[in-house]
Amino acid sequence: MGQSVREILSLYNPSTSLERAWTIPAPWYFDERIAALERDAVFAGAWQVAGRADQVRVPGQFFTADVAGEPLVVARGEDGVLRAFFNVCRHHAAAVVPEARGCAKNFRCPYHGWTYGTDGALKGMVEFEGVRDFDRAQNGLIPVRLDVWENFIFVNLDGRAAPLAEFLGQAAPLTAPLELSQSLRFFDRRVYTLNCNWKVYIDNYLDGGYHVPHAHKDLSSVIDYPNYTIENYERCCLQSSPLASDNSSDAATAATRQGRAFYLWIYPNFMINSYAGVMDTNLVLPLGVNKCAVIFDYYFSDLSPATEARNRQSIAVSEKVQDEDMAICDSVQRGLASRAYLAGRLSVRREAGEYLFHHLLHADLTAALARSPVP
Ligand code: FES
Ligand SMILES: [Fe+2]
Repeated sequence: MGQSVREILSLYNPSTSLERAWTIPAPWYFDERIAALERDAVFAGAWQVAGRADQVRVPGQFFTADVAGEPLVVARGEDGVLRAFFNVCRHHAAAVVPEARGCAKNFRCPYHGWTYGTDGALKGMVEFEGVRDFDRAQNGLIPVRLDVWENFIFVNLDGRAAPLAEFLGQAAPLTAPLELSQSLRFFDRRVYTLNCNWKVYIDNYLDGGYHVPHAHKDLSSVIDYPNYTIENYERCCLQSSPLASDNSSDAATAATRQGRAFYLWIYPNFMINSYAGVMDTNLVLPLGVNKCAVIFDYYFSDLSPATEARNRQSIAVSEKVQDEDMAICDSVQRGLASRAYLAGRLSVRREAGEYLFHHLLHADLTAALARSPVP
């Protein structure tokens, strides 16, 4: 018989210092029960980015999203209030809003035609005369807790997370100098599917530039590697590096990676990456134990036609880095499943971010297990 969830969790020892620490053990990356526990403890319990405020500026605008396996709809009501709901019809559970995005006065369920307002209220039921003990006012779409920071719409599925500002902690003051809302505009999106557990991607992101000279030759040609810094906060990690290019640097990378590299990870799965006038966000979504999606949203300070080519060039540079990361992440996932591997050690100079990630994850999973014991 295999190990219990409790045994798998206890393979990780959170009380060692970074100098003596091991990574979280391999079964955390492929055991279905750990993935189920994470869905509850990490993704339903935390604030999760569901979309962007620029998608729902006008009353009636909406988009749908999947957060931790839950179908959601985010809509700005006629009253101007932004709300999130489970996109689940109160009649027989069909998705009331099948479209990815749009603008509507009402939502009409495509199954039997019940209508809801953009504020979630149930407005009408087809052929429902004679039904007793049914209170229309009690049968609106079920709301989901929502809050907004900068251009990012967050939701908290279980309603129990600390207030968003508290959850974000230092992330807000750390990003203040970037002037996200004032200086940067959304430009384009890319979605990548990887054959690895979501945590492999986060680990890769949080290795303090350790892999950059080996896996990203072009990016490495502009990063001032010795002066790369890693700072841990309660629930976020900031990696930052001066940039320096010379005539041996990759030209496209040097042209689009200027100023200072700023890489902020916010637990558990959201990252903000910026250079002068350039930003992208990464949202990492688990799609199974060995599959995840990463959504890249690209922002630039200048969206004028004159800068279109440079903005496209910046995205191409990012895509190359992402291709390189995907190959590594897929390889790591295969290795984690090998009988040859259980866990690894961490570089003190580089991998403090991973150490923080593993601690936070361990704390959330063990707390959830204590609340609802599973075998
Ligand atoms: S499931 Fe929506 S109207 Fe029947
Ligand atoms: Fe990378």
